[in-house]
Amino acid sequence: MIKLPGLIDPHVHLREPGATHKEDFDSGTSAALAGGFTTVLAMPNTKPPIFDKSTLDLALDAAKQKARCDYGQYIGAGPDNAAIAASLSGTAAGLKMYLDSTFGELRLDDMSLWQPHFEKYPRNQPIVAHSESRTMAAAILFAAMYDRSVHIAHVSLKEEILVIKAAKERGIKVTCEVGPHHLFLSKDDIPAISNGHPGRGEVRPRLATKEDVDSLWTNLDVIDCFATDHAPHTIEEKDGENPPPGFPGLETALPLLLTAVDLGRLTLDDLIQKMHVNPRKIFNLPEQPETWVEVDENATYEIKAADQFTRCNWTPFEGWKVKGKVTRVVLRGTEAFKDGKILVQPGFGRNVRI
Ligand code: NCD
Ligand code: ZN
Repeated sequence: MIKLPGLIDPHVHLREPGATHKEDFDSGTSAALAGGFTTVLAMPNTKPPIFDKSTLDLALDAAKQKARCDYGQYIGAGPDNAAIAASLSGTAAGLKMYLDSTFGELRLDDMSLWQPHFEKYPRNQPIVAHSESRTMAAAILFAAMYDRSVHIAHVSLKEEILVIKAAKERGIKVTCEVGPHHLFLSKDDIPAISNGHPGRGEVRPRLATKEDVDSLWTNLDVIDCFATDHAPHTIEEKDGENPPPGFPGLETALPLLLTAVDLGRLTLDDLIQKMHVNPRKIFNLPEQPETWVEVDENATYEIKAADQFTRCNWTPFEGWKVKGKVTRVVLRGTEAFKDGKILVQPGFGRNVRI
């Protein structure tokens, strides 16, 4: 048995308010516990998006009643809410800026709209940027100009990881995360994932080339965090017209990464740094006393959507054989998950900012 600290996922979409048929704070935090995560930070591209006091309260009220693990809620950067967002930073996980096209309404195309956010958002709180390729370079320029940190979400390309590496070497305050799907899947896997349903291969950032995937593994030391970007959409939506982009990931991240540890592709210490130590530091999260995750490192099993707690009912890793199973999670002294069962009630989770 291996004992891990409570894992932290700084990038999840729990779809509340507005799309609870895909996920809600109950099902999403159950999936988190089953996956070995004791803290999740929820993204603001909900319906309505989280961008002011009343929408933040909508999400936090739902979370307070329903969450089974600890949580934070991001506020989204809009065209004219920089002052409001900054004033709410005390109760938000951080500020999320959508600088490239994605799912939902929050998007800032004009760079002059980024300025007030970089000026006003408190420097002790994270700004997380959804930014791809050259937009990412622009986000890093803003970190340099305003001498504050920026965290780059879901890095997927070789050019991105190399520019982040160069920026770090020059002392710019940039950190980054990579999603397991960008480490374990390339665009060559899309036909197998799709299985005749092209929507299932859709995710943002898109699955990249084998060369991009290899560069992420080669530059593992540049990656600060593994974050799932758990983005559940139901199988019916993925297989329907205009399939929304996104993969679920909370229940597959740890077994996939433990399998990679078993294969010698990274160390257990790398995993702990990137799923606990670094996210805790970057996102300024409180300690969870008496909290740990027990893993049977020799248990092998097949990933099956039918076994998952997420409401979306599919996974791009269906049928993958993994080695390493979460058997028990203890959160703040209480047994929260054991042998496939969630043992804490909705409302057990706490807001990391209160
Ligand atoms: C995310 C979603 O569905 O909310 N989709 C995705 O493909 N990653 C959007 C996002 O993370 O930007
Ligand atoms: Zn996301």
